[in-house]
Amino acid sequence: MKVISSIIDIKKISSDLRNSGKSIGFIPTMGALHMGHTSLMEKAKKDNDAVILSIFVNPTQFTAGEDYHNYPKDIEKDKIIASKSEVDYLFLPSADEMYPEGYKTFVNVEDITEPLCGKFRLGHFKGVATVVLKLFNIVKPKRAYFGEKDYQQLLVIRRMARDLNLDIEIINMPTIREKTGLAMSSRNRYLNQNEMVSAAAIYKALKISQEMVKDSERISQKIINEIERVIKSEDGIKIEYISICDPDTLEDMKIINDRALIAIAVRIGNARLIDNCMVEVR
Ligand code: PAF
Repeated sequence: MKVISSIIDIKKISSDLRNSGKSIGFIPTMGALHMGHTSLMEKAKKDNDAVILSIFVNPTQFTAGEDYHNYPKDIEKDKIIASKSEVDYLFLPSADEMYPEGYKTFVNVEDITEPLCGKFRLGHFKGVATVVLKLFNIVKPKRAYFGEKDYQQLLVIRRMARDLNLDIEIINMPTIREKTGLAMSSRNRYLNQNEMVSAAAIYKALKISQEMVKDSERISQKIINEIERVIKSEDGIKIEYISICDPDTLEDMKIINDRALIAIAVRIGNARLIDNCMVEVR
C-alpha cells in the first residue's frame, strides 16, 4: 500500500490507473477505522481493479462545539488495517491543501439535509457534500462506498451524485455491529464499559420496533413511545431524536403504510451515536 499525501500525486496515480483501463473503488473516511470500514474495503476490492482509501478529518462538517479537535486518530493502526484489507493507495490530504486560504465554495443539497441530524448539526451535510465532491473530483473513482449507519449522509451523497451528473456509482453496505448489536462507529471509542452496555439499547429498541411493525403496528407514535421507553430504561442516554420517516424524503410518516426508515440519535457520555433500520409493510 502506498501512502500519498498530496492532491497532485493522487490525481496522477488515479489518472494513470484510468488511462490503463483500471477501475478505481474509493472509500472516503475520517479514520479510526473499524470493521464497518473494512467491509467497505473488502467490497471495493472485489468490485474494482484498484482501491483508494482516504482519511481526512474534515473540519467543515463539524459544527461549533463538536468533537473536531478530539476526533479519534490512530493513523498507524489505520495503516495496518488498510494494508491488511489490500487497499492500494491511502490518501491522507492535509486541511491546508483541502481548504487553502480564501476557500469559498460549498455544496448545498436541499431539503433532505434539514431533518434528523441536519436539525441538530447545522451545516454538517454542507461540509460532508463539499468534501465528498472535492474527493470525488480528485480521485475520480468509478465506484464509491458508504455505510448504511449514516443513512442520511448516504442519501445526501446519492442525491448530489445524481443532481450534479457525477459518473460515480454510489454503493452502500450494511451496518456492521458489535456482538451486543451496537453499530460500529469511530465514536464508540469515546464510550467507557458501562456506556458500551447502555448503548446496546439503541439496537434493542430498533429490533423491538421492527417486531412491532411485523405484528401489524402502523401508528408511528406508538412505536416511537416504545423506542423511547427501551432507551430510557438504560442509564445515561439522552435521546436527540427518534424518527419514523419516508426513506427517500426523510419526511415524518405518521402511519406506516409502505417502506419506512426508523432513525435514532442519542448522546451517551461524550459520544453522539446514530443508528437506523428499515421496516416494510406489504
Ligand atoms: O462518514 C464519514 O466518515 C465522513 O462523513 C465522510 C463521508 C468521510 C466525509 O468526511
